[in-house]
Amino acid sequence: MKTEIKEQIEGYADIVKENEILRKYAVNSSFERGKVLEAINLIHPKYLYLKISKIIPETESTTTLRLVSESGYLPPFQAGQYLNLFVEINGIRSSRPYSISSSPNQTGYYDITIRRVNEGFVSDFLIESLKVGDKLTSTSPTGNFYHNPLIHGKNLVFIAGGSGITPFMSMIREVTDKVLDRNIHLIYGSRTEDDIVYRDELDDRQKSFTNLKVSHIISEPSQGYSGHTGFITGDFIRSEVGSIDDKMIYVCGPEAMYSFVLKELENLGVPRRKLRVEVFGPPADITKQPGWPEGIAKNTSFRITLRNGESIEAKAGEPLMNSLERYNKVLPASCRSGECSLCRTKLLSGKVFHPNGVKIRKSDAKYGYIHPCMAYPLEDLKLLI
Ligand SMILES: Cc1cc2nc3c(=O)[nH]c(=O)nc-3n(C[C@H](O)[C@H](O)[C@H](O)COP(=O)(O)OP(=O)(O)OC[C@H]3O[C@@H](n4cnc5c(N)ncnc54)[C@H](O)[C@@H]3O)c2cc1C
Ligand code: FES
Repeated sequence: MKTEIKEQIEGYADIVKENEILRKYAVNSSFERGKVLEAINLIHPKYLYLKISKIIPETESTTTLRLVSESGYLPPFQAGQYLNLFVEINGIRSSRPYSISSSPNQTGYYDITIRRVNEGFVSDFLIESLKVGDKLTSTSPTGNFYHNPLIHGKNLVFIAGGSGITPFMSMIREVTDKVLDRNIHLIYGSRTEDDIVYRDELDDRQKSFTNLKVSHIISEPSQGYSGHTGFITGDFIRSEVGSIDDKMIYVCGPEAMYSFVLKELENLGVPRRKLRVEVFGPPADITKQPGWPEGIAKNTSFRITLRNGESIEAKAGEPLMNSLERYNKVLPASCRSGECSLCRTKLLSGKVFHPNGVKIRKSDAKYGYIHPCMAYPLEDLKLLI
């Protein structure tokens, strides 16, 4: 007789015996079935149904949306996590991740703070078209960009570029509101003084809490600006923070800032294990990324063939996921930055470019799986979608 694999599992026979005894004494445990999943779904629902309760203008290009739950319940989160917000714009269904900027102590709402990206598809819509009372759907809070006191210690340097301030604001609000034993030095790079988000609040919190220091640096200052100017270089970090040996460094911002700062930190000798990074959105120009093949321009067009034989057009310079969405082919997505694997798709033929930092498992690479949220076509492709 063939033995089933489950019969070889240690303890299997004991469980079968126990079930037989329970049945004999008419104890029915089957009603418990599915209860664990029910509890998990309650605490960590797949989708959140949210309503805008307030719109807070922050700077000329940045707005905060205060989101409350339609059901009255918002799952807890770790300061630094994000929501992936689903939208439908002119018939195209898409999504974008936004870090929660409010503190996890605040359980009644989530704030997300959005900066308008030039010619951006979703950021412009969120800022310009939504009003109080509008409904939105999102994922539950997710992501790994948060502080773990056991591993990361209590001396933290936050390096933010532009809208990359949002996860740090959540962390700063949490640490100061709860008076946690942590020392934070925020280095915050903005284009102009007027672009500094949460400027007054950062000033106030810095005055009230000795464990928070804030250093602003402005890359395009107005005439007469007396603060620090330029980019976030290694020298600037060192001069503001002093020794970095005993500190955990967090970096968050758009791809261009992240690549620049990472090199500076490397030159300072900061080891990778002392660094936590989050990149906001795809590179503005993928063709300038290291490893991009010569001779393929941003606007080069390729044909993408799907399993039903349908064929769509995709531009080399745009993430494949965006091109698919334009034809109403919506893949599961959460991070849209090549991290979470949710959009993983089998590539049957053709070649794509994944920029540095996209995490493809070894087995996925071997068997031809790609992350369309951060994959750029370099040839005509066939996808198993
Ligand atoms: C984990 C995470 C958290 C984030 N948190 C925040 C936050 O708190 N606040 C915030 O403001 N942002 C945040 N972002 C960024 C955000 O998700 C969006 O990427 C951002 O709002 C831009 O979206 P968009 O649709 O407006 O721009 P997109 O339309 O996606 O454009 C993004 C870039 O791609 C280029 N591009 C777009 N379409 C094309 C095309 N057809 N051809 C060539 N290039 C093209 C654009 O030039 C632009 O530089 C976060 C991102 C991540 C990954
Ligand atoms: S959506 Fe996360 S890897 Fe693509």
